[in-house]
Amino acid sequence: MKKSFKLILVLALLSVALSYGLNSCKKQDNPNDLHYINQEKPEIFPEPLYHFADNPLSEEGIALGRKLFYDGRLSLDGNYPCASCHQQSAAFGTFEHDRSHGYNGSHTLRNAPPLYNLAWRSSFHWDGEFADFRSEAAQPINSHNEMAESFNGVIDKLQKDPEYRNMFRKVFRTEFISADNMLKALAQFTGTMVSANSKYDRFKKGEATLNTQETEGYELFTQHCAGCHPEPMFTDNSFRNTGLPLDPVLDDHGRIRVTGDAGDEGKFRVPSLRSVYLTSNYMHDGRFNTLLQCVNHYRTGIQAGPNVDPALVAGISLTDAQAVNITLFLRTLSDSSFLTDTRFTRP
Ligand code: HEC
Ligand code: HEC
Repeated sequence: MKKSFKLILVLALLSVALSYGLNSCKKQDNPNDLHYINQEKPEIFPEPLYHFADNPLSEEGIALGRKLFYDGRLSLDGNYPCASCHQQSAAFGTFEHDRSHGYNGSHTLRNAPPLYNLAWRSSFHWDGEFADFRSEAAQPINSHNEMAESFNGVIDKLQKDPEYRNMFRKVFRTEFISADNMLKALAQFTGTMVSANSKYDRFKKGEATLNTQETEGYELFTQHCAGCHPEPMFTDNSFRNTGLPLDPVLDDHGRIRVTGDAGDEGKFRVPSLRSVYLTSNYMHDGRFNTLLQCVNHYRTGIQAGPNVDPALVAGISLTDAQAVNITLFLRTLSDSSFLTDTRFTRP
């Protein structure tokens, strides 16, 4: 009796000591361990097109990307971080601007697109110049009318900052900062900005109802607009000519610049309409600033031309009330929680 009690006591002590030992051992290894996370996929979304295959997502990688995204040091004079044009209050577009301001009082050629659900897009920029959003981020850093910096310039500045050296060492196992690692970290941050909490999303899950006007707008949208802006991403990722008259000053011919194919003259990518009410201005050059102007373009503004999409050649016939109801439906796509999501705010 006494013996076996002792044995149990010894065994119990041993197991406590062992588990403590193991835990403390784990704890000692931890400072350099990354906390890997899974890519988020909202219930009603299809499979993402981009999977971070060679850039595994971790909490630390995302935090580094977030710091870079908000850091003015990525621009030549310190004034133009990514976030200066991609503002959270506008779903990461530029709020109420046709085009954005860049280095030295310059302007971008086009309207800054909102950044969300990027892993579901098949191309980037209004003309589809970039096939993935990771390589895209090199362009604003180097463009004279955006951040106007060089990678060497950015790396020189960041390499002097012990906090960055630490973060890069943790995520990429080296404290020598490279352009490639910067782009990977930025992609971890921008690529995980998922937005799927609009009234429309809640309606789809049976958690909200649409009123009469929104319901009529939804029906009209399905009939006239969903061919190019299909649910649930509200874009088919294609390029179309919607008969917008060419602005002679900007002289932007769209997709043809990338493909050189005359059939692509005047084509621009179909934007998602999620949170569109929050991302004014509209169209590739930001020429419109209300949703009603956009809908009215499809009713009466389409300029004839050889490439105008067959679905739009005759214009879309809607009454004034129907046009308003479509805009009311578009407003149900607003995800205002995305604008204040603390995972994406300035760190
Ligand atoms: C000076 C304003 C400005 C700055 C700064 C800027 N961008 Fe942009 N961004 C734009 C504009 C304008 C476009 C659209 C370009 C086009 O279509 O030709 C764009 C497009 C993008 C796109 C493609 C989105 C899509 O749907 O096609 C991504 C991703 C992006 N920017 C990320 C970034 C990141 C990351 C940074 C920082 C490294 C950054 N941007 C800095 C203005 C800016
Ligand atoms: C033939 C394809 C097509 C159809 C049909 C279509 N759109 Fe579009 N839509 C586009 C393209 C392409 C753009 C971008 C055009 C550009 O900037 O040059 C666009 C842009 C928009 C924008 C501006 C979004 C932004 O972020 O700038 C809104 C709003 C919009 N469409 C709503 C609608 C509505 C509402 C309907 C139905 C009445 C509709 N669209 C029908 C292809 C289409």
